[in-house]
Amino acid sequence: MYGIVNKAIQGLVTENFGKESWEKVKQKSGVEIDSFLSHEPYPDEYTFQLAGAAAEVLNMPLKDVLIAFGEYWVLKTGMQHYGSLMQAGGNNLKEFLINLPAFHSRVMLIYPNLTPPEFKITNIDDNSLHVHYFSQRQGLKDFVVGLLQGLGKMYQVNAQILISQTTENGADHDVFIVKW
Ligand code: HEM
Repeated sequence: MYGIVNKAIQGLVTENFGKESWEKVKQKSGVEIDSFLSHEPYPDEYTFQLAGAAAEVLNMPLKDVLIAFGEYWVLKTGMQHYGSLMQAGGNNLKEFLINLPAFHSRVMLIYPNLTPPEFKITNIDDNSLHVHYFSQRQGLKDFVVGLLQGLGKMYQVNAQILISQTTENGADHDVFIVKW
């Protein structure tokens, strides 16, 4: 994944737990890169190793690290570094999610060699919808929960995320029910 993802893990750890914790995470991960370049691609393993090491060093379940990372990605990386791109996604949570399937095609103008996630939106109602998530990677379900929670916070609505099916239970893709 592009270095910006690893840099965001660094930001999440450093801002919440300090520079020393990040040094410990880096050491434990075995990833021997001093500073990541946002626009440089790195092996996916690096990202998973860093997230796993963060869970160990911070003594948190990996699930919670991934949820916190999803929120950080939207509220810090997205809003602070790509504010106009995020704002162009929609005027409210429902609009943003309906537009989500096309979102990474715009991100690809910035990161052309992206291996993006795929989303499909169904069951659109006044106060809920279903987000279908397809990925070539495994183990990022909780990251998506955090992303969806982060979007709720971005639009200042009380969003509830329920997992209705997951590849962990044999389904071919994950489905999240988002209610607000
Ligand atoms: C301006 C905001 C955003 C940028 C710049 C961005 C960029 C990226 C980048 C660089 C990756 C790594 C993939 C790679 O390097 O091959 C990625 C992955 C991902 N993004 Fe985004 N993204 C943004 C917003 C979002 C939002 C709002 C969502 C969903 C709610 C999202 C969902 C994901 C997921 C789930 C992945 C993991 C890849 C996978 O599932 O295979 N992103 N994104």
